Amino acid sequence: MAIINDHYLKLAAGYLFPEISRRVSVFTEANPAIAKEIIRCGIGDVTEPLPAAVIAAMHTAVDELANRATFRGYGPATGYDFVREAIVQGDFRARGIAIAPDEIFVSDGSKPDASAFMEIMATGTPAQGGNRTVVCDPVYPVYVDNNVMQGNTGPAIAGGGYEGLIYLPGTPANGFVPEPPTEPVDMVYLCYPNNPTGAMITRPQLARWVEWALANDALICYDAAYEAYVRDPSLPRSIYEIPGADRCAVEFRSFSKSGGFTGVRAGYTVVPKAVEGRTHSGERVSLHRLWMRRWATCSNGISWPVQCAIAALYTPAGRAQVASLIDFYMENARILREACAAEGLQVWGGEHAPYVWVACPAGMGSWDAFDALLSKARLVVTPGAGFGRHGEGFFRISAFNSRENVIEAGKRLQALR
Ligand code: MLT
Repeated sequence: MAIINDHYLKLAAGYLFPEISRRVSVFTEANPAIAKEIIRCGIGDVTEPLPAAVIAAMHTAVDELANRATFRGYGPATGYDFVREAIVQGDFRARGIAIAPDEIFVSDGSKPDASAFMEIMATGTPAQGGNRTVVCDPVYPVYVDNNVMQGNTGPAIAGGGYEGLIYLPGTPANGFVPEPPTEPVDMVYLCYPNNPTGAMITRPQLARWVEWALANDALICYDAAYEAYVRDPSLPRSIYEIPGADRCAVEFRSFSKSGGFTGVRAGYTVVPKAVEGRTHSGERVSLHRLWMRRWATCSNGISWPVQCAIAALYTPAGRAQVASLIDFYMENARILREACAAEGLQVWGGEHAPYVWVACPAGMGSWDAFDALLSKARLVVTPGAGFGRHGEGFFRISAFNSRENVIEAGKRLQALR
């Protein structure tokens, strides 16, 4: 009989968002008459149609595939040059950052990339020669679950977390931006604008992390999936705005929340040529070389219509349409923030991110708040405990919804009174 990867059996619960869907389904099956009234502000899934420039580009691309003269088969595994050039120009050169097109790896999204990236890193717990890995807590669960699946952790700890990972608490006191650790560490995951708290890191704070990583020879896996939501130009939209980051960081980017591509599926990873890891025997190796090798073997890239859709996001029309989508969701975030404050709830985020992070009323746990909002108000939020031990006592509201639903969701928060 085939032998499984038994590290999967260590996973303490189902992946957070399917678990929420399961609970909502149980509720709707028991209450079919009110199922239609449910407002879903749980998973951060966009609701507005694709930008017009994207739709036109995808139609044209499909027509090209319908014609022998313009038909395309396999493309370059890491993305067509014109797409990588558009990305570099729009996201980096325009901000004075020297990233080269061949340091961009176009993919089907930042979640798959953050997961696949583990394939080129050592496996095992630190005691077995694996990486000493840091995550913030609360944390986007993908980073943790992936490390568990790869066998980089010990068993689940009662009350949350896994043995072998180092958790840095994100709290209201530190603005959900932990300081770098003082103990020796090999890898760290940072996500700003932050999922789930909606917090943003300042340039000096990010510079401290880069300085720390360079001094400690550590790798930063920087998840900038929500960078399009940064409103203040003094705040960093890429870790490469910090000098030296190209020697210690890889960056994950997504078009899900900027172009509304949650269903289209596209993102990219930046792996600069200067960033290195080491072998167990201490030899330094280019991560770019390994990641390139991994792509050449494991992927044939993403589809032609989707790559044309990406390029369309960087046209003047595409940029303007994305900006108005972001404005729309950020107005939703403002409405949700104000609704929480009007209810006397403490609230964070929602200023440079499409997520609002809310403290549960005193004495109420985050799954209790989830249950109360679902059963009394037909409102789905994400319980903070699903993001880690330090998420307990909070819940997250996603601003991705119609304006009408967001206004109504704000009113339904009264159920927590
Ligand atoms: C979220 O709601 O945290 C994200 O949309 C989930 C994801 O991107 O995987």
